[in-house]
Amino acid sequence: MTTSVSFAPQEGVQVAARDRLAVALDVPDAKSAYELVDRLDGACRWLKVGMELYYSAGNGLVETLAGRGYSIFLDLKLHDIPNTVAGAVRSVTGLGAGLLTVHAFGGPAMLRAAAAAKAPGAPKLLAVTVLTSMDQSELSAVGVPGSPADQVLRLATMAKASGMDGMVCSPEEVAAVRAATGPESILVIPGIRPAGAAADDQRRTATAADAIRRGASILVVGRPITKAPDPAAAARAILDEMESA
Ligand code: C5P
Repeated sequence: MTTSVSFAPQEGVQVAARDRLAVALDVPDAKSAYELVDRLDGACRWLKVGMELYYSAGNGLVETLAGRGYSIFLDLKLHDIPNTVAGAVRSVTGLGAGLLTVHAFGGPAMLRAAAAAKAPGAPKLLAVTVLTSMDQSELSAVGVPGSPADQVLRLATMAKASGMDGMVCSPEEVAAVRAATGPESILVIPGIRPAGAAADDQRRTATAADAIRRGASILVVGRPITKAPDPAAAARAILDEMESA
């Protein structure tokens, strides 16, 4: 099964907010994931399966959720030598995931190898630029001079030239990345927080409306929805905010 993913702006065509919302299923096991999906009540098209859930529930969960009609964003943040990352792309081909992440910091050779490994049924590839939990002091602690914005732009431009379909960056950089990488890039944006909500461990955040206005394709929202007493209502409030933008 494959999932078509296209967010290139076409005149007169609006992509519905539901199609642009990914809820992060950051839960420890399949049972908790299915319970959360039931509580979301179809409010989003995309479900993000990250390391915590994938390492515990694996491909069976991805195939089941895709079979239920959801689009799956496999957020595995691959970062290894080119040969290994290419093999991982082949291993998840055909599962029904629409999007897969790799770390841009793996460099052009790794990204090109990932892109070259795509075959029919492979997910689109997104390069993670700088984690939204990192600020300038975190970046400098790993030896990267300059601001997160400079580093995001450098990595996004390199990722585009290396064959990536899109990028993950914070809402603070999305306008610059959109301008640098063009309308066809799929820009997936975590770090979304309703006005006044807790930032948790995120450092570079904005509201859903601001992220959409700045050029985001898909918003990733975790705790503001999944920890809410009524996750479906919290998701619908974010959809309303997206529509208003
Ligand atoms: O709970 P919260 O809304 O902060 O969740 C954000 C989600 O987006 C998490 O699943 C996290 O792994 C993911 N993510 C991120 N920053 C990135 C890439 C992915 O926060 N750069």
